[in-house]
Amino acid sequence: MAQVELRNLNKIFRDPQTKKEVAAVNNLNLEIHDGEFLVLVGPSGCGKTTALRMIAGLEEATSGEIRIGETVVNDVAPRDRHIAMVFQNYALYPHMNVYENMAFGLKLRMLPNLFWQLTHMSEARRIKGEIDKSIQDAAELLDIKHLLDRKPKALSGGQRQRVALGRAIVRVPQVFLMDEPLSNLDAKLRVQTRAELIKLHRRLKITTVYVTHDQVEAMTMGQRIAVMREGVLQQCDTPLNLYHEPVNMFVAGFLGTPSMNFVPAEVKASQNGSGPVVDAGAFQVQMPAEKGAALKEYAGKNVVLGIRPEDLHDKEFAPAALNGNGANTTRMQVDVVEPMGAVSTLYLTAGQHTLLAMVEAETKAKEGAPLDLVLDAGAAHVFDTETEQKIV
Ligand SMILES: Nc1ncnc2c1ncn2[C@@H]1O[C@H](COP(=O)(O)OP(=O)(O)OP(=O)(O)O)[C@@H](O)[C@H]1O
Ligand SMILES: [Mg+2]
Repeated sequence: MAQVELRNLNKIFRDPQTKKEVAAVNNLNLEIHDGEFLVLVGPSGCGKTTALRMIAGLEEATSGEIRIGETVVNDVAPRDRHIAMVFQNYALYPHMNVYENMAFGLKLRMLPNLFWQLTHMSEARRIKGEIDKSIQDAAELLDIKHLLDRKPKALSGGQRQRVALGRAIVRVPQVFLMDEPLSNLDAKLRVQTRAELIKLHRRLKITTVYVTHDQVEAMTMGQRIAVMREGVLQQCDTPLNLYHEPVNMFVAGFLGTPSMNFVPAEVKASQNGSGPVVDAGAFQVQMPAEKGAALKEYAGKNVVLGIRPEDLHDKEFAPAALNGNGANTTRMQVDVVEPMGAVSTLYLTAGQHTLLAMVEAETKAKEGAPLDLVLDAGAAHVFDTETEQKIV
């Protein structure tokens, strides 16, 4: 096992048609700790696969350094990097059964040629025994023991996916690279396999870089998440830190479903020591005093108020601490109520703004009627309109 370090890593492609240069990965600095499960997430085309392929050695870096453990591996051949990669479109050998598929790479690596095997029968037998044991263990772990004799065409998509994982596991790599390995599975199997992968990682503790564009997958699986946009790393932190303290509007909007409400607003100067007011026209938000200092220089300026749907409470059910002086209570129009069972989603209008709230399922909100909502100003964020960076 080993840590992976990317230093000032760049990959520039030339578009075959326009001949323009595209920075698929733009000055990426990232340290993946030994034994860590790191998720690389971002919208389609942001450079996730390219970054992964550079780590694996399948794509040459335009510039920058890749280290695995203590070694700079830029010039190390893929097979010598001790990496196992699981792709979205894994290919199993169709003419081999599951067992042979899993054993193939191992035999190639661990057993010398047939002549050697015939002249070193007991040694060869011992190695074959080891290979068999690791395959049986992996098959047990992945619950595919009963499938070892089957050919890939007689397996379901989910089973094939697990065989591909098994084939990667038995190699006991230093690093696992996974590129959307669950995307071919149906929703239920995806959730199941997701949990299995996490359990597997807890047991094996192999450094893993897991690529997905699914933010739910990222939040649930990653010990840390690296968010990319157009080749540029935006932020890398634990799921909860990213969720509560996003550095900019992109990260704030990318993580969380339904996503954060963004409302154009203006900062009003603080009055007599209380925090500043963020004025969205249809409603005002009294910010807590501790957020005052950072907002001071924005007095009189346009900003974007960011508020997560779960931080807009139905007044009737709002926590007592928020319900005090009523400063952040706003009457909004309820357009749609979507009962989800555990919670209800409300589509709201306040003046020219539309917002989403996630409230208690017991809400008495009625479509077409007004409702009092309490906004948790302590959890709200304010972003710079120009740079989209978070101010508080
Ligand atoms: N061989 C190539 N030649 C030219 N451009 C490429 C090449 N491979 C990738 N790109 C471009 O580099 C950018 C990043 O591609 P990449 O495949 O890394 O994205 P991704 O984040 O994995 O996206 P997805 O979620 O769709 O898989 C894209 O703009 C893509 O068009
Ligand atoms: Mg990709």
